[in-house]
Amino acid sequence: MTKYARIFQGTAFTSKTQKEVEILHNYLFCINASGIIEKIVSPEDVDYHTLLEAYEGEENFHRLDDGQYFLPGFIDLHVHAPQWAQAGTALDIPLYDWLNTYTFPIESKFSDLEFAENVYEDVVNTLLANGTTTALYFATVHKEASLLLAEICANKGQRGLVGKVVMDNPEQNPTFYRDATTQTALADTEEFIIAVKELAKTTKQGVYPVVTPRFIPSCTDDALKGLGELAAKYDTHIQSHCSESDWEHGYVQDRFQKNDAFALHDFGLLSKKSVMAHCNFLNDDDADLFAKTGTAVCHCPISNAYFANSVIPIAHLHSKGVEIGLGSDISGGFSPSLFDNARQAVMSSRMLEDGVNPSLPAEERGVPASRITINEAFYLATAGGGESLSLPIGRLAENYAWDAQIIDTKLATAKLPIFDESEDLNDVFQKIMYLVRPENIREVWIQGERVHSRK
Ligand code: GUN
Ligand code: FE
Repeated sequence: MTKYARIFQGTAFTSKTQKEVEILHNYLFCINASGIIEKIVSPEDVDYHTLLEAYEGEENFHRLDDGQYFLPGFIDLHVHAPQWAQAGTALDIPLYDWLNTYTFPIESKFSDLEFAENVYEDVVNTLLANGTTTALYFATVHKEASLLLAEICANKGQRGLVGKVVMDNPEQNPTFYRDATTQTALADTEEFIIAVKELAKTTKQGVYPVVTPRFIPSCTDDALKGLGELAAKYDTHIQSHCSESDWEHGYVQDRFQKNDAFALHDFGLLSKKSVMAHCNFLNDDDADLFAKTGTAVCHCPISNAYFANSVIPIAHLHSKGVEIGLGSDISGGFSPSLFDNARQAVMSSRMLEDGVNPSLPAEERGVPASRITINEAFYLATAGGGESLSLPIGRLAENYAWDAQIIDTKLATAKLPIFDESEDLNDVFQKIMYLVRPENIREVWIQGERVHSRK
């Protein structure tokens, strides 16, 4: 019989489609030495009892307790790691003012590596404790501090995709916080890519360099072009902000006479490995371009409520074949939890569908067919994120990484309201998605390794 590194036994929830959740009731998950789910075995399978006999009682056999469930680890497609230091503040001012009066000053402090280490250690720990196993991070313009964030992810076992932020446009960025020149921005990015690729060789779960023009206003044409070339040369992921706010959208129209999507495409910045945050003002041509190039949208529902005063039409973009994942957008969004963001995604979609202007007749108030279910929000936080990154993560399925959260619904201090032992598991799943707090997340595993435990 194959020797597995670990076997887990228990009930798991994983996305089957964008709308359907599959329940794997009391299955075995057989993990190989690389941390990949090599085999999933149902209780009806002939191997089930043979495996149990071989592994039960061994140190590498893990059986869930009563009331515990597996979820895939969450994939946060948009985190500004340095902004953790200001999470929850200043959300009542517009994006442009928020960037200039709060965000750029705080990000400029990351030239200090000691300050950077304190914040980055804490944000990675916090995300792990909230069930986030993979995070796509914006760091700052500083090459050394950005590398430090990648090292912290590597050490803690989190699958971090990290970008040194590029902001070289002297017309849009303050003197105290920007790349010195376009040449240094590109040279630093290239050195950063090479260093993170080296670092990745020392990790099991992988860390990845990400080409990161902050957003079009931050960058000169030469930087955008150079970054597109670097992404192609090193086959990296790419991230930016796209069509986020009225102000930013208007700026790009004035500069290029086109929308962000087509401008980014002209610079080679839309690819299978691109993730664009927000995308509130994507029209149908932009969406078609995203679908054609394999570019993913990162939905940031909490942040959008504040900075875009907007809800992006997720259901419509899905119907056009665009890949979509979920992002916290710390600290444009205040919460480090993708549970919170999944909840907001559902609530915002209901408001988009039904509208809020009571003076209009009901049928004219909102955008029809916009609502998404909690199943779809779960998909965004898991499988949708994995597909957006083109990585085998986000599902508890064969050939995917064992990235998992163990949820305890019976914890004395944070019990979920489950009173019937035979409650339908679909209902248990919904209670988990709506009511879980960090206390209920007992363990987090990434690539077959335990990275967080509350025991
Ligand atoms: N656009 C450019 N930079 C930022 C940022 O830090 N946060 C958000 N939400 N939007 C941005
Ligand atoms: Fe952002």
